[in-house]
Amino acid sequence: MRNFKVFSACILLALTAISAKADNVIYKDASQPIEKRVEDLVARMTLEEKVLQLNQYTLGRNDNVNNVAEILKKLPAELGSVIYFNSDPDLRNQVQRQAMEKSRLGIPMIFGYDVIHGYRTVYPISLAQACSWNSGLVEQACAVAAQEARMSGVDWTFSPMVDVARDGRWGRVSEGYGEDPYANAVFGVASIKGYQGNDMSDSQRVAACLKHYVGYGASEGGRDYVYTEISPQTLWDTYMLPYEEGVKAGAATLMSCFNDISGTPGTANSYILREILKNRWKHDGFVVSDWGAIQQLRSQGVAKDLKEAGLKAFTAGVEMDMMNNSYDKHLVDLVNEGKVPMAMVDDAVKRVLRVKFRLGLFEKPYTSTTTEKERFLLPANLKIAQQLAEESIVLLKNDNNILPLTKQSNVAVIGPMAKDKLNLLGSWSAHGKQDDVTSIYDGLVAELGKKVKLSYAEGCEFDGDNTSKFAEAVSVANKSEVIILCLGEKKGWSGENASRSTLALPKIQEDLVLELKKTGKPIVLLLSSGRPLELNRLEKLSDAMLEIWQPGIMSGQAVAGILSGRVNPSGKLSITFPYSTGQIPIYYNMRQSGRTHQGKYQDIPTTPLYEFTHGLSYTNYEYGDIKASATKIKRGDKLSLDITVSNSGKMDGKETVHWFIYDPVSTISRPVKELKHFEKQLIKAGESKTFRFEVDLERDFGFVDGTGKRFLESGDYYVIVKDKKIKIELD
Ligand code: NOJ
Repeated sequence: MRNFKVFSACILLALTAISAKADNVIYKDASQPIEKRVEDLVARMTLEEKVLQLNQYTLGRNDNVNNVAEILKKLPAELGSVIYFNSDPDLRNQVQRQAMEKSRLGIPMIFGYDVIHGYRTVYPISLAQACSWNSGLVEQACAVAAQEARMSGVDWTFSPMVDVARDGRWGRVSEGYGEDPYANAVFGVASIKGYQGNDMSDSQRVAACLKHYVGYGASEGGRDYVYTEISPQTLWDTYMLPYEEGVKAGAATLMSCFNDISGTPGTANSYILREILKNRWKHDGFVVSDWGAIQQLRSQGVAKDLKEAGLKAFTAGVEMDMMNNSYDKHLVDLVNEGKVPMAMVDDAVKRVLRVKFRLGLFEKPYTSTTTEKERFLLPANLKIAQQLAEESIVLLKNDNNILPLTKQSNVAVIGPMAKDKLNLLGSWSAHGKQDDVTSIYDGLVAELGKKVKLSYAEGCEFDGDNTSKFAEAVSVANKSEVIILCLGEKKGWSGENASRSTLALPKIQEDLVLELKKTGKPIVLLLSSGRPLELNRLEKLSDAMLEIWQPGIMSGQAVAGILSGRVNPSGKLSITFPYSTGQIPIYYNMRQSGRTHQGKYQDIPTTPLYEFTHGLSYTNYEYGDIKASATKIKRGDKLSLDITVSNSGKMDGKETVHWFIYDPVSTISRPVKELKHFEKQLIKAGESKTFRFEVDLERDFGFVDGTGKRFLESGDYYVIVKDKKIKIELD
């Protein structure tokens, strides 16, 4: 029956193609090149039809398939796009049918959604993913998200977020890949590849959206939506790289940012959108505004009303209006009044149509009907989510090798996160369900339950001042050999519009640690959070600490694997953990200062508690010296660098080598260290592996100025791996 359906669909497609050819309707003819189809279609469209293509509404937020008649009335058949909140392919198909059959030209809609770290198979938040330093694995996870999303009726995800973020108070720090430009670029590219594959028309791939172009991570004081202070130099050397690389990797779309760049909001910034993105980088897909960002140009003080806001955004280069009702209300008038040239409208529509053709929506506008079982939580996908969770966890501290738990037979599992499921999903968990999550406690029972007696107490709530559960926790702890204390943040404490003034956990959680410390039992602190935490007080009270982030539905399995020693921790921080919140801004690649021996804090250390790339393992790695193919080179030469790492411990492990460069003298003062390359390899106990960095001089030793021009200067450069360093002289 199924084969028959596929067969008839093929015949129908072939017949449509033949009749399209016969009518000479180029845009309907799949055998024609996409550019020809785009040109043909735009030439047939009225101004009103063009303008509707440039708008995005929502679908499925407060409605479902049962009130479809009402929904269809609200959505014009010619509309360009919707944000699809539902996961039922049937609702999508009914709306799509209206677009295909009721609009004059039969242009499919594109269905977008925030699939940020998984669709139903929720895997770790992006900040955690970056701690795995395993870009291949991130690519695989994004392919899982794409498969589940596309099969549920989503063609386009608003991901990846590649905003370099150095302020943990900003809730959206959880959504990006940390504080380093190069890391954001590498993981951004990996996720684009995972989402889009080689062919976006594949029924298991989606279009990606690089966001939020650009500089959103610089939000002042870590508060969301506020002013950002970004000099042209910092714009280019810190914030632009991940976007430039993402565009090169073929990101179909970008989302403009809320914040401003030197006084001009991203949504109305023709320098970044038109001059750089479209003219210099030749991006030929489209830019969508952020939600309501065009309207907000009024409150940002650059537009007097919605019409002027639309004019500014559109002429700057924002092609799609996400939930502003500015283009649909005003763009036709703006064209008729001569304020917006028709050629600009045509260019915008072509960009949107190009992406729709690339997604194959004209040939396959509908989503095949499948059961949830056929598309969600497939065993191979759960494995990927679990491995990513395992590799994202960072062992911050492990005094006296208390971990892994191989000797203990009586373990107390305490804390508000121990049996929690919902909060382990993290923000933006799409269609993730808490019932799919394995809690830390359940994971431990499954992994250790046969050998170890596990007892549980909640200890306290996430916040508030109710200490009434302390006594039970102390009594459980007293009967055990070790305490696994599971603390952290609720999922709503990070993500959009979730800024916090401190990185410290609420006092009640710190008080619980103090109380349990009195038992004299060793404390293993498990921390689940969407941001770096202020841990200086807790660090003194704990024997071991693991940052587990928000690992997603396979949390329990991943954490239990690390605690039991089935998995050797290999995560390393993608963001600095300050000693205390007052150190912010603090990040490893700060610019060089005039007096390194001075300028310290009087009351706290000036160095962070845990540096960028910090992360321990259950084994020991010994690093050899860096070997260079040459130490005196000239432009155009090739340079390769090797370092050998030996696993001198007893457990196999995966180690990431990070290659930094330092350019002490340059026309523009450069950071003290810049990450240029990283690689993760499995090293078996007793074995050694060689890691290689093939240097591209322009890319890796060169720098960028405040106009985005790369330059390479002669002089001495240092290549740094951990405490190893080598000088390279460039003529
Ligand atoms: C606002 C957020 O800033 C953006 O990241 C998200 O994609 C859109 N809303 C759509 O939900």
